[in-house]
Amino acid sequence: MEPVDTVTGVIPDEAELRRRVGRLSLEQKVRLLTGQDFWALHEEPEAGLRRLVLSDGPAGVRGESWDERDSSANVPSATALAATWDTGRVEAIGMLLAREARRKGVDVLLAPTVNLHRTPYAGRCFECFSEDPVLTARIGASYVRGLQRSGVGATVKHFVGNDSETQRMTVDVRIDDRTLRELYLAPFEAIVRDAGAWAVMAAYNGVNGSPMTRSPLLRDLLHGEWGYDGLVMSDWTAARDTEADAEAGLDLAMPGPASVYGPWGEALLDAVGKGAVDEALIDDKVVRILRLAARVGALAQTLTPPGPPPAAPTSTFPPPGPPPAAAPPELAVEAADSVAVAQELRTAAAAGFVLARNDGLLPLPRYGPADRPGLGRRLHLAVIGPNAEVARTMGGGSATVFPPYTISPLEGLRNAGLHVTYAPGVTSHLRGGAARAPWLLRPDRVADAGTGAEIRFLSQTGELAGSELRDGATFMWLSGFATSGVTEPVARLEVRCVIRATVAGEYQLGVSGLGRYRLLVGGAEAFDTTLTLPEDSDIAEALMRPPQQMAPVQLAAGQSVDVVVEHDVESSPFTGLGTLVQLNLVPPHGTDEEEIAAAAALAAASDAAVVVVGTTAEVESEGFDRTTLALPGRQDELVRQVLAANPRTVVVVNSGAPVLLPWAQDAAAVLLSWFGGQEYGDALADVLLGDVEPGGRLPMTWPASEEGLPSTQPVNGVLTYHEGLFIGYRAYDRDGREPLFPFGHGTGYTTWAHESVTLDQPSAGASGVAVCVQLRNTGSRRGREVVQVYASRPDSAVERPAKWLTGFAAVDADPGESVTVGILIPERAFQHWTGDGWSTEPGTFVLAAGPSSAALPLTTTIELG
Ligand code: BGC
Repeated sequence: MEPVDTVTGVIPDEAELRRRVGRLSLEQKVRLLTGQDFWALHEEPEAGLRRLVLSDGPAGVRGESWDERDSSANVPSATALAATWDTGRVEAIGMLLAREARRKGVDVLLAPTVNLHRTPYAGRCFECFSEDPVLTARIGASYVRGLQRSGVGATVKHFVGNDSETQRMTVDVRIDDRTLRELYLAPFEAIVRDAGAWAVMAAYNGVNGSPMTRSPLLRDLLHGEWGYDGLVMSDWTAARDTEADAEAGLDLAMPGPASVYGPWGEALLDAVGKGAVDEALIDDKVVRILRLAARVGALAQTLTPPGPPPAAPTSTFPPPGPPPAAAPPELAVEAADSVAVAQELRTAAAAGFVLARNDGLLPLPRYGPADRPGLGRRLHLAVIGPNAEVARTMGGGSATVFPPYTISPLEGLRNAGLHVTYAPGVTSHLRGGAARAPWLLRPDRVADAGTGAEIRFLSQTGELAGSELRDGATFMWLSGFATSGVTEPVARLEVRCVIRATVAGEYQLGVSGLGRYRLLVGGAEAFDTTLTLPEDSDIAEALMRPPQQMAPVQLAAGQSVDVVVEHDVESSPFTGLGTLVQLNLVPPHGTDEEEIAAAAALAAASDAAVVVVGTTAEVESEGFDRTTLALPGRQDELVRQVLAANPRTVVVVNSGAPVLLPWAQDAAAVLLSWFGGQEYGDALADVLLGDVEPGGRLPMTWPASEEGLPSTQPVNGVLTYHEGLFIGYRAYDRDGREPLFPFGHGTGYTTWAHESVTLDQPSAGASGVAVCVQLRNTGSRRGREVVQVYASRPDSAVERPAKWLTGFAAVDADPGESVTVGILIPERAFQHWTGDGWSTEPGTFVLAAGPSSAALPLTTTIELG
């Protein structure tokens, strides 16, 4: 199906695409089916195809390099976007990402991730929208529409059953047919059918016995039943079987080149040559690659007449002759740090913040009580917690982008003009963090000695092959060193910097990576070590949480010391492709007891306190699951002591997915703020001070404890979804368990009365039923409410959840204003999967509407069948 608002020009019909395929030799065709490198497809001038670039996604558009100098707008995490329950806003974020993609030469974004939050332990929950398939589908479709309406392709991933990380490359996920259809496939189906996604990524894992790159679901369901005409690419290195992957409907094996990665290239040529794989299948794959290219403007609309092949076939795009008509659309492109981008990201972050509790402390006043001795008129605010100073604005793993800047909560509250004093409280990092300002400086002899380091690339003979100045302390190369301007083989790297002490004491300095590293401090060797991972480690874990070695260094206040890390590139397990080095630094700090006592004393002496707690990249990232939902380190103890010291304390949670909050009932206010993107801190100040409404509602159930949550741990390579349909609120309802905060919950700064519900015919052309809900803003300020409609089926002959989300809409209203909102409930919302097809059980369904899954004051019924 063609989305109506595609702006990439005319998409050649099947016959024209096949005519182009007909111009190519088998070698040329097979070459197209594996990436040219880590991120791009091969060009093929004879078919009019230019190099087509893919990029992660979903928190921004990273582009082709893993380099902080190549910055990208960092949008709030998927959980934050889903928490807006606002399809229009998410579509606008998709359009912002499309502009970013074009700015960075990217044609297809590897996003959105629409796997479900089967369990909060899953390491990548932050990157997925919700535990609910309807919310996931609606938000995901909006994200896809925003991208594609601007001519940039979306890749819906990871198809399917990649709902946790443990053994993700090999695990076989067992899901019963009905659960697969009603929960895990549902977002893919809706997005493929309704939003017309142009690409789908086949997951690493298997489902019910077949690895997803060769699963019958590709041909039978995706292409057959859903009529999908887009491209299926493998997750990175997921394709492993030459013939089975070719036959199953996988079109593109990523990454490339085929000489290093993937099962195709020469092996596929041989397989076709000996008749084991039909050439017609290869043609079909190339057609789908060309169709994707046409959609994103990477396919010339007219071809040069057939003739002798061009002398240099890899460098003649656009082909000489008529200009390509399917050029990418003209998009107004702003820099990632422009005012317009900042404003959009700031409002989007605030729109996803969930105010889970507020006894009236929020919004905070800008001015403190004038009558308290020693305090001035401006509010004296204690800002506490490790994440207040270094916030997480995105999750770890392939979703990583390098924002041009990030605003921490501390900066945001300072920017707002409050009188702010900071105390870290505790250390939440269990390992040394990356070295950073104000301690990390480029070497003295470099003219621009700002924050960062100099990297030198050395050849086998020790000659300098190149050097560069970097802004941070984390360096990673995934496909050679060309992004650093070095094309010769590199045998050794040197990272050179100066560490300057702010206070006297013991600094921990160290290195994280894989392979051999030598650390020199002030010319003396601190260590020479080889860092290795256990055999079966996930590549993402290897890159995100590589092993580390630290060494203590005593420094006087103001003392500077030269630091050099030498790395033997050939000792890296990725030798020939790239490598990684991170320089780590932990400045002197008190014991947790001392830091907690100092934070509590600061809170006691302030008008109010804001404690920002959260996760770290060590516990919440791609590549591994969480083993506990508790906050890392002694953050719970910190919160308890600050609450005791000053009851006017707001706790802000900076995590991508639920963490346990055992003190929540004692806090005056709890704000769940996700990974908020680069404008996080300013958005936080807007909401805490009441300039902006906290717009979010929970896209998942927030657990009170770890009781009853599904496990991510396979048994003998198999992960069985024993809980079936009962994940998230469906499980809590069935078991009668109380979560800490229910699905859909969240309050704002006004109050609402939900007054009436009626049913109506849907507008012409739509099937289903329209639910009209009337509600009134009964508070004293303008606000936003998300009206949610759940269905249930009393006395059903079919096993079902007690209720399930069927539709929702966000409304804004002034004080006293009454508004009516129409919510379309599609027919599918009432259907269940029988094993053979979708069926509606005849009889009475109840529709309940209200502000959350646990507060549904309005009900009506509908007779079906
Ligand atoms: C992830 C994908 C990602 C790809 C490329 C994989 O490990 O699972 O989501 O798009 O890497 O970075």
